[in-house]
Amino acid sequence: MQKRYLMAPGPVAVAPEILAKMSEPIIHHRSPQFSAILQRIREDLKYLFQTQNDVIMFASSGTGGMEASVVNLLSPGDTAIVIRAGKFGERWTELCEAYGIKAVNIDVPWGDAADISVVEQTLNAFPEAKAVFMQAHETSTGAKQPVKEIAALLKNRENTVLAVDAITALGVYELKTDEWGLDVVVTGSQKALALPPGLALVSVSEKAMNLAKKSTSPRYYFNFLSEKKAVAKQTTAFTPAVSLIMGLGTVLEDIKKTGLEAVFAHHARLAAGTRAAVSALGLELYTRVPSEAVTVVKTPDGIDGQALVKKLREEYGITIAGGQGQAKGKIFRISHMGHLSEWDMIIAIAAVERGLNNLGFSIELGRGVAAAQKYFAADR
Ligand SMILES: Cc1ncc(COP(=O)(O)O)c(C=O)c1O
Repeated sequence: MQKRYLMAPGPVAVAPEILAKMSEPIIHHRSPQFSAILQRIREDLKYLFQTQNDVIMFASSGTGGMEASVVNLLSPGDTAIVIRAGKFGERWTELCEAYGIKAVNIDVPWGDAADISVVEQTLNAFPEAKAVFMQAHETSTGAKQPVKEIAALLKNRENTVLAVDAITALGVYELKTDEWGLDVVVTGSQKALALPPGLALVSVSEKAMNLAKKSTSPRYYFNFLSEKKAVAKQTTAFTPAVSLIMGLGTVLEDIKKTGLEAVFAHHARLAAGTRAAVSALGLELYTRVPSEAVTVVKTPDGIDGQALVKKLREEYGITIAGGQGQAKGKIFRISHMGHLSEWDMIIAIAAVERGLNNLGFSIELGRGVAAAQKYFAADR
């Protein structure tokens, strides 16, 4: 059987200890035993999100957390500003439109970060906007977005909240929910938390909770208010994803023990070593503002990015990701999230070198690997 490696930016590789934890017999969710576990997890989530706000859990993928944000913050006919810097930015608009909310789109060229002055002008032009929706990191392009700066623009705008899709940012690099004033922060289990897919986690500020009380958008499961009530009773509104939550408990314990700073440093190190290799191979990053979550590389001229990804997956057993939307065929993406170490990065780079050569783009085998080795071996 071929050995397989998962190095795409979600879902990511899960550690065997976590898989083992999730395979334990199911605990009933309305039991004192589960309530105690939930209490501890909710405290640890506050550490991860750097917030005193409640962090709500939904049994859904990350998009469920985005949908919950839209329906709880806004009502049909309301206006929202959407920063669209890639495929996931487009999703905010689609969600708004699905619920009759007017989306004022700020379109950012793919690979770029939003321009703060354009965001400020848009806020001035649409003072009725009740929410700004954005990504912390746009996974489809690898570009980090200026969350802190945009939050600062909103500090004195009492009637507007900021909702951040941090699905590939939270737990990867610094994101200070309370200090920066982020009203809603969304993540999913299958990214930095290195769990299987199926949990959306959403922190909700008091200002956002007040909007949820006023929202007339149709909703049932994705309701901040029923979940908040359940938090007060040390339970969940509906049957939670018990096994995933058991795994989450172990992951959070580990993050607390390691410390957030060290967790961020780990991602930064994998990203920097990988980028040393990319540069040594004469390849180019897709974005000027790369994140520590994923390295996004332009495929050399004449090479189809999708063919490279397919070759790695089907012939070498290595899953990296290709491009989406307008970047399809033009890029490949190597994750730094998940149960990965520097040795895995070296494997990914070796596979890219071999794959490009086999597709007819001649590069010296080992050149990227050597650069990564030197980076990782240096005493930092
Ligand atoms: C930034 C971002 N937002 C949203 C999503 C969608 O999340 P999900 O597929 O868990 O619904 C993803 C998934 O890759 C993402 O990277």
